[in-house]
Amino acid sequence: MAYNFDEIVDRENTNGIKWESVQDIYGASDLLPLWVADMDFRGPSPVMEALKQRAELGVFGYTERPDSLYEAIEGWVLRKHQWRIVKNWICWSPGVLPALTACIQTFTKPGDRIIIQPPVYPPFFKVVKDNGRELVTNPLRYVNDRYEIDFEDLTNKFRTTGAKMLILCSPHNPVGRVWTRDELSRIEAICTEFDALIISDEIHADLTYPSFQHIPMASLSAGAAERTIVCFAPSKTFNLAGLQSSYIVIPNKELRIAFNKTMARGHLSMSNTFAITASESAYRDGDEWLEQCLAYIRANIDYAAEFFALHIPEIKMINPEGTYLLWLDCSRLGLDTAGLRRFMVKEAKLALNEGVSFGTEGEGFMRLNAACRRATIEEALQRLLNAVKARR
Ligand SMILES: Cc1ncc(COP(=O)(O)O)c(C=O)c1O
Repeated sequence: MAYNFDEIVDRENTNGIKWESVQDIYGASDLLPLWVADMDFRGPSPVMEALKQRAELGVFGYTERPDSLYEAIEGWVLRKHQWRIVKNWICWSPGVLPALTACIQTFTKPGDRIIIQPPVYPPFFKVVKDNGRELVTNPLRYVNDRYEIDFEDLTNKFRTTGAKMLILCSPHNPVGRVWTRDELSRIEAICTEFDALIISDEIHADLTYPSFQHIPMASLSAGAAERTIVCFAPSKTFNLAGLQSSYIVIPNKELRIAFNKTMARGHLSMSNTFAITASESAYRDGDEWLEQCLAYIRANIDYAAEFFALHIPEIKMINPEGTYLLWLDCSRLGLDTAGLRRFMVKEAKLALNEGVSFGTEGEGFMRLNAACRRATIEEALQRLLNAVKARR
C-alpha cells in the first residue's frame, strides 16, 4: 500500500515529548520542534492492526516472547544486514541505554576508562560518568564536510589510557556516517590489539540511504563477533520509541551470560506486552512502510540540502549517509554557543538540538530532525532563512 507521510498527525495531547515539552525545555511555545529523535509519522499499518487486535483481548498479564518474534527478528537482520543470527544470541532490554548501562556495569569496574567518539549522542557521556567510569574521547575528524575516525588517536588512546571498552555509534548520531567495512575492520584490529570490548549501538542501523549499507560490527568476522555486543531496536526504525523495547545480539556465550545476569539482577528481563506485538509485526511486515518512509525522508534531506546551498550558504548541512538527523555547521553565523541557542529559539523560532550537547566538538553546530512532513521542513527552513536575512 502507499503510505501518506504528508498526513497531519496531531501530536497535541499525546504527552509526546517532542511537541509537548518544548515550553519546558526551550522556554517558548511557538517553536517548530525538530529536536528529539522520533518521527512525526504514523507507523506501519500492520503494526497498528496488530496492536489494536492485541488491545481488544483486554488481558495484559506478564507476557512471554514467542518463537515467532525471534523468527521475525532473525529474518529482518538477515534481509536488511546480511547477518545470520540465531535465537540464543538475542537478549532483551527495555531500551538501548539500559543495555549500555548494563554493559558498563558488567564488563568494567568503577574508575575504568571507556572510549567514545564525539560529537556523539549525549547520553554516551552520561552513562559512562553516571556509572563512575572515566571518559576517554577519540574525537571524529571533520575533513572536507565529512566525518572520519581518527584511527591513530584511537590507537594512542587505548595505549595511553588502558581503556578496555569502546562504545561505537553505528550509524553515527549526529554526523550521519554509515561506517564502511574498511573502517569497521580497522576498529576491530585496534580493539583486538588492545583486547577491548566493542559495545556497538546500532539503533539507527535500518535507516540508511541508497548506496550506503550498514554492516553490523559483530558480523565482520569471527573475531569481531567474540568481542562485540550489538544493540538493535525497532524504536527509531518504526517510530516505536514509546514502547520501550530493544534487543541486544551477543554471539559470545560468556558475555551473553554475564549480560543477562545483570539484566536479571535489575529485574529488567521482561518485555512490555505491546512491544512484543509491535516488534514482531514490524519486523515481519514493516518493509514496505520503511522503504517508503526512507524515500520520503531522503527527499526531505535533498530539499534541505538544496535550500541551504541556494539560500542559506552561511549554514553547511552535512549530508547524512544514514539516520534522519541533519548535522548543521552554523559556525559561519559567527555566534558563540549562547548566541546560537538564542538565535535559533528567539529569532528562527526553532527547537533544535544544540551541537555542544554532543561534546565540545559540536560547538557551532545544531542537529535538525528531518523525519517530519515536507511542509514542516519547508516552514523550518523559511523561518531560518528569514532569521539569517534579518542579520545579513
Ligand atoms: C545512538 C542512540 N542510542 C540510543 C538511543 C536511545 O535508545 P533507547 O530509547 O532505546 O534507550 C538513541 C535515541 O535517539 C540514539 O540516537
